[in-house]
Amino acid sequence: MKIGVLTGGGDCPGLNAVIQAIVLRASQYGFEVWGIKNGYEGLIEGEAQQLTPNDVKGILQIGGTILGTSRKNPVKSEETLRKVLENVKKLQLDALITIGGDDTLGAAEKLYENGVPVIGVPKTIDNDLSATDYSIGFWTAVDIIADALSRLHTTARSHRRVIIAEIFGRYAGWLALMGGLAGGAHVILIPEKPFTIDEVCEVIRRREESGEHYTIIAVAEGVKLPEVREAVTMAKEKDEYGHVRLGGIAKLLEEEIKKRTGKDVRSVILGHIQRGGPPNAYDRVLGIRLGIKAVDLVKEKKFGYAVVLRGTEIIPVKLSEVVGRMKQVPKEFFEYTSLFSGQWR
Ligand code: F6P
Repeated sequence: MKIGVLTGGGDCPGLNAVIQAIVLRASQYGFEVWGIKNGYEGLIEGEAQQLTPNDVKGILQIGGTILGTSRKNPVKSEETLRKVLENVKKLQLDALITIGGDDTLGAAEKLYENGVPVIGVPKTIDNDLSATDYSIGFWTAVDIIADALSRLHTTARSHRRVIIAEIFGRYAGWLALMGGLAGGAHVILIPEKPFTIDEVCEVIRRREESGEHYTIIAVAEGVKLPEVREAVTMAKEKDEYGHVRLGGIAKLLEEEIKKRTGKDVRSVILGHIQRGGPPNAYDRVLGIRLGIKAVDLVKEKKFGYAVVLRGTEIIPVKLSEVVGRMKQVPKEFFEYTSLFSGQWR
């Protein structure tokens, strides 16, 4: 049995844990693993190399992906699909494990419909895949955000400033919510919960009156300003899956809040720092468990499935039930967005 493995979409901490587990589990079964370079780009170009247990020694704790990644869409055109199908044949792959978010797994489903024996593994720091309780990379990113916010507290308090931290997550507020909670943000703004700038200014004023002269605001990159009704973007061009690059909301809020409150305001974009560096223990263990289960499905020839986390179990779910279902923050979580609004923390 020869298994191809690739990582697609944005990288995240924990991908190498999955890759290592796939290689080690496969070697227990006597299967070969071939690493495909740079996501689907490598499958279109036919770039792959064998991965032995020796090749993946020690990668568990390293961030990013040793395979490289890209946002290439293998089913963008008939031409790319044809090349992929040819290369799957040329490389004599009996199975393909694709590790990625909604775009990568959506493409995997289409490849499966075209006869490629695929297994998916969900990863995204955004945690916006409904099928899985948590995706690899999410909790490491939350750790990074919480640490960044803790650091912002001390400088904001010293200077009596408002500091706004812009947080990744696209149209889901999970990172801003969980990172904001763990980092003690006084105001958390997420795409799912409408807000007005006046409400935010009111929190700042109330804190001032109670003797708290600084405020930390965690804002998700995908929030829409009530006045604008569209998320703020960095650039208008779209990637191969049709997504624009979000970003810039913190700067807009900085200017508006300064105008309305007269406070000294600063904004920071946490950006790709949230995706870099080593995975935490949770993401390592989750990655290992998903990698093992993915190879077990290959052994059972149970293709067209993704392995997901439900409660404490790793289970297979049909790819068709995984893709195109964005998991947003539900209303029951909204109360957490203002837990610290009146407190020093
Ligand atoms: O989907 C993961 C993610 O990190 C989003 O949170 C963010 O909007 C996007 O990727 C950034 O993409 P890129 O790495 O292409 O700039």
